[in-house]
Amino acid sequence: MQLVHLVSLDPPLVLFCAAKASTTWPRIRTSGKWAANILDEDGEEVCRLFAQKGADRFARIAYAPGRTGSPILEDALAFADCETIAEHDAGDHVIVVGRVIELGYQHEGKPLLFYRGGYGRYEI
Ligand SMILES: Cc1cc2nc3c(=O)[nH]c(=O)nc-3n(C[C@H](O)[C@H](O)[C@H](O)COP(=O)(O)O)c2cc1C
Repeated sequence: MQLVHLVSLDPPLVLFCAAKASTTWPRIRTSGKWAANILDEDGEEVCRLFAQKGADRFARIAYAPGRTGSPILEDALAFADCETIAEHDAGDHVIVVGRVIELGYQHEGKPLLFYRGGYGRYEI
């Protein structure tokens, strides 16, 4: 489970920061491909599942491979399917920059928020 940030619009680039202690990061690093799934406000349970070390994250989740073969969650609000183009060392994390191969908006809704250790909804 990662937070993703927009880096560049042209070309479209995003980044996430992988903890060096992550057991999933080495596999993402080897494949060079990954998808950032933006959960909707009903996605708290999925978020908690993906934030658990050692969890069988895809056992009960509906997903399909995106253009890079990375998993796109069926219920995600939106996704960015990416290929890694750069890695930068950053303390106990690695900053991973990805080129967006496909960007998708899957359904209407609002994103799940995480703030000060808790989950919340986006109200405007
Ligand atoms: C809201 C939230 C955001 C997180 N963001 C990151 C992140 O940006 N990078 C990271 O390495 N771990 C992040 N984590 C922690 C990871 O989810 C957790 O350490 C990881 O899933 C452990 O499993 P792994 O060894 O398979 O990576 C976050 C957790 C939560 C709850």
